[in-house]
Amino acid sequence: MRLKDKVAIVTGAGRNIGEETAKLFASEGAKIVVVDMDEARGHTVTEELNASKAETAVFVKADVSDENSVKNLIAESVKAFGRIDILVNNVAISDNLTIRECTLADFQKTLNVTLVSQFLMCKWVGEQMIKQGDGGAMVNIGSTSGFRGRDSAIAYAAAKGGVANLMRAIAIQLAPYKIRVNSVVPNKIGSPVGQQDFDPTRPVPNLVGRAGFPEELAKGVLFLASDDASFVYGENLFVDGGYSAMM
Ligand SMILES: NC(=O)c1ccc[n+]([C@@H]2O[C@H](COP(=O)([O-])OP(=O)(O)OC[C@H]3O[C@@H](n4cnc5c(N)ncnc54)[C@H](O)[C@@H]3O)[C@@H](O)[C@H]2O)c1
Repeated sequence: MRLKDKVAIVTGAGRNIGEETAKLFASEGAKIVVVDMDEARGHTVTEELNASKAETAVFVKADVSDENSVKNLIAESVKAFGRIDILVNNVAISDNLTIRECTLADFQKTLNVTLVSQFLMCKWVGEQMIKQGDGGAMVNIGSTSGFRGRDSAIAYAAAKGGVANLMRAIAIQLAPYKIRVNSVVPNKIGSPVGQQDFDPTRPVPNLVGRAGFPEELAKGVLFLASDDASFVYGENLFVDGGYSAMM
C-alpha cells in the first residue's frame, strides 16, 4: 500500500478524474477528503469509499475559488483526520470561448476556478503542512492546453499555462519544508471538462487512438503523490496518450 494512513484532499472528486483518483488513493490505504461543489456527487463518492472500507472518507462541500471556503475546508479536513499529507488540485472549468466571445467576467471566472484555486489551496494547505513539520506532496492537474495555443477556450488555455508555471514556483518555494509539488498534464481523459458523459468511440488525435480512462490519469497522480516520486520536484508529467509528442 503506497499511501497507507496518509490523509489526502482531492478537489473535484465528485466525478471523472477526481473521483477515480480518490478511489485509487483509498485502495492504496489513504484517508480521503472528498471535495466538490456538487453535494450529491460528493456524497455519493464518499459513501462508495466508506462502503469499501469504513471511515475512509469525509465529504466537504467547498468552492475552491473562494478563500474562506478553502480555509474552512482545511479546518474540516484536520478536524476529521488530524492532518493533511497530500493535496490533489483537480478542479477546473473551461470557458470554451474565443477571445471575441469571451467577456472579462467569463475570463476572470475561469481563471478564478482553474488557476486562483490552485494558488489558494497550495497556500493554505502549505501552511498546514509547514505547521505539521514533516512535509507532504501536492499534485496539481494541468492540461496540454497550457502548453499550446488553441482555437477556443481562451481563458482555460491562459489559466492552464499559469498552472504549469505556478506549480514550478510553488515547488521551489515549498521544497525547503519537504513539500514536493508536481503536475500531471492530461489530454482527452474520460469526458471533456465540465461534462459527465464519456464517449469511448470519439476520435482522438493521439498515439493510442482513444481517449484516456480517468483511472489511467489517476495512476500518474498516485505516482507523484507517493514516495515512489521522492526525487521528482517541479515536474509536469504528461499523461496524454502521446499527444504532446505529436505537437
Ligand atoms: N477531461 C479531460 O479530457 C481533461 C483534459 C485535460 C485536462 N483535464 C484536467 O483534469 C482535471 C479534471 O477534469 P475532469 O474532466 O475530470 O473535470 P469535470 O468537469 O468532470 O469535474 C470537475 C469537478 O469539479 C467540481 N467543481 C467545479 N468547480 C468547482 C469549485 N469551484 N469548487 C469545488 N468543486 C468544483 C465539479 O462539480 C466536478 O465534480 C481538470 O483540472 C481539467 O482541466 C481534463
